[in-house]
Amino acid sequence: MKSGSILKHGLIILSLFGLIFLLHNITNRENWKYHTVSAMYKFQDRIFCSHLGQPPSPEEELEERDILDSIAWPQPPWSAAPPALCRTSDPARSLFTIVPSQNGRRRYVGDQLEVLVHLHDFEGRPKRYGGDFLLARLHSPEYKAGVAGQVLDHKNGLYSARFPLLWEGSAQVEVTMVHSSEAVAVLRRLREKRPDRVYFVSLFRLGLHSETTVCNVCLPRDQGPLCNYTDPYSGEPWYCYKPKMLGCDARINHAKGGYLKNVITNKEALLFQSDVNVKVPIHASTTDTINVLPFRKESGSPKTDPVKMATSGYYYQDSWRPLGGVPMRQFDGASAIAQCLTNKVVYMYGDSTVRQWFEYLLNALPDMKEFNLQTPKKVGPLMAVDSTHNILLKYRCHGPPIRFSTVTASELRYIANELDGLAGGPNTVVALSIWSHFSTFPAEVYVRRLRHIRKAVARLLDRAPGTAVAVRTANPQALEGDVSLYNSDWFSLQLDAVLRAVFKGLDVMLVDAWQMCVAHRQPHHLHPPTAIVKNMVDMMLSYVCRDGAGNNV
Ligand SMILES: *[C@@H]1O[C@H](CO)[C@@H](O)[C@H](O)[C@H]1NC(C)=O
Ligand SMILES: *[C@@H]1O[C@H](CO)[C@@H](O)[C@H](O)[C@H]1NC(C)=O
Repeated sequence: MKSGSILKHGLIILSLFGLIFLLHNITNRENWKYHTVSAMYKFQDRIFCSHLGQPPSPEEELEERDILDSIAWPQPPWSAAPPALCRTSDPARSLFTIVPSQNGRRRYVGDQLEVLVHLHDFEGRPKRYGGDFLLARLHSPEYKAGVAGQVLDHKNGLYSARFPLLWEGSAQVEVTMVHSSEAVAVLRRLREKRPDRVYFVSLFRLGLHSETTVCNVCLPRDQGPLCNYTDPYSGEPWYCYKPKMLGCDARINHAKGGYLKNVITNKEALLFQSDVNVKVPIHASTTDTINVLPFRKESGSPKTDPVKMATSGYYYQDSWRPLGGVPMRQFDGASAIAQCLTNKVVYMYGDSTVRQWFEYLLNALPDMKEFNLQTPKKVGPLMAVDSTHNILLKYRCHGPPIRFSTVTASELRYIANELDGLAGGPNTVVALSIWSHFSTFPAEVYVRRLRHIRKAVARLLDRAPGTAVAVRTANPQALEGDVSLYNSDWFSLQLDAVLRAVFKGLDVMLVDAWQMCVAHRQPHHLHPPTAIVKNMVDMMLSYVCRDGAGNNV
C-alpha cells in the first residue's frame, strides 16, 4: 500500500523532527545553565566589566569618584570573620529616646526634634560600631501627616534621627532597623562580587532553530564567544553568549533569566530574617510621643537648618507639601489634569514605577483611551490618547538590564537615545524612572547609565528650552523572604543618592519618591499605593503647569 508507506515514512520523519526539537531544547537549557554557573565562579574573583565598557573621561572619572565617596558607608571593624549572630544588632533589644528640648521648654512648629537611638546586640550589649541602616519617621495618624527623619550615624552604636516640626498637635516617632551593619556588609559584598545574582537570557532564532543564552552587562570571556550588543550611540555595554549554531543577529528577545539562589552562607542568612532583623521597629525607652504647639515668631530654626534643608517635604491630610521648589498644586479631578496637559505629549521612560504614572493618568482622565499596541501590559511600549484635549501619553521601558518578562529585542532602547530623538519644547513632558533594575550591580554601572541620560537631558533642554523633565527617585519596598539579597532598600538608598548627585544643578524636577514613601502611613511597597502615586503625579503636573509654563490659554 503506497499511501500507507508514505504515511509511515512521514510519521518517522515527523517524530525524528520532534526528537531533534526536544534534544535542542534540552541542550539549550543545559547550555545556559552551564554558563550561569561558570559566570558565578568568575564574578567571585571580581573581574568586573571595566574592560568591557568605554573608559570614562578624566572628568567623568573624577565625578564618579566624588559620587562614590559621597555614598561611602561605614566599613565593619572586622576583616576576616564576621561576628556570630548574638553579637549583631537586634532591633528588639535596641531603644530610642527623645532628646528633651532645651531647658525643658515646649516644642513649637519650626523647631527641630532629635531622637537618640542606641543599638544593642542579641544579648543586650551596646553596639560599639556603626553602619546599621535605620529609617525614621515622625507622624500623626489623626492628620494623616508624616515626615522622614534624617539619620546620622555616630559610628559607635549611637544614631541621631532629626526631624523638622512642621505641624501642630500630637506626633509619634517611629524608628525602624532595616538592616544590621553586619547585614549591610553582606549586601555590599553581594553588590560588588555577585552582580550575576539576577541573570538575563535572550532567545535566538532562525527558521526552526532556536537557542537561549545568558546575557549581562558583562560576562566572563573565557566561557565562550560573546555577542557584543554595546550601544553604538551611548556606549552602554551589553553582552550575550553567542549561540552555538546561530549568529548574533538572530537575537529575538530579552528576558529576566532568574535569581540565583544560595548566594550567601547559612550563617549569613541569619542576618536576613523577617520579623527578627529586617525592617523591624525599634521601641522607645519611655515615650514615642510629643506635642507640638503652634508656630511662634520667636521660635523656629534658622532658614539654613540643615535638617529642614535635607527634608524635601511632608504629608498633611495625605497631601505632599514640598519644602521649597515649585509650589505644589492638587490636581483633583479629571478637568484639572486635562487642563494642565492639553496639547501635550507626555513621554514616560523607565521601569514599572513610572509605568504606574501612565496607569494613573490613564485612569484619572475619562477621555483618555489606551491605544492597543498589542504589547504586554507590564512591558509595553504603551500609548494612550485623549483626542478631546489633544493629549498623548507614551510609556517605554529602559534598556537592559531590565528584569521584565520578555522584551522584543527591537524594542530594547536606551533612554538617552530616545531623548536624543525628541524635538522637545513647551508641549513636551518627559518623566524618567530608572533605579530598581540596577540594584544588583556595583554603583559604577548606575553612574554610567545616569551620566548618559543626564547628557541627553542637557542636550534636550539646550535645544528645546521649556521642555519639562521630571525624574523620579528610588523608593523603599517590602523586604520579605530573600528579597533583600536582590532588592534591598540599602541598594535603593545608595542608587537614590547617586541619582540626586548626577542630576544636581540640572533644570529638572526631582520627585522625591524616597521621602514620599518613608513619610507615608502605608507600608513600603516596590509599587507605592495610589495615594502616593497621586502625589508624585501632582508634583510633576505642578512643575509642568507652573507659572509661566504650560499655559495653554
Ligand atoms: C522548549 O522549552 C520551552 C521552555 O522551556 C517550552 O515552552 C517549549 O514547549 C519547548 N519546546 C519543545 C519542542 O519541547
Ligand atoms: C564591544 O563593542 C564596543 C563598541 O563597538 C567596543 O568598544 C568594545 O570593546 C567591544 N567589546 C569587546 C569585548 O570586544
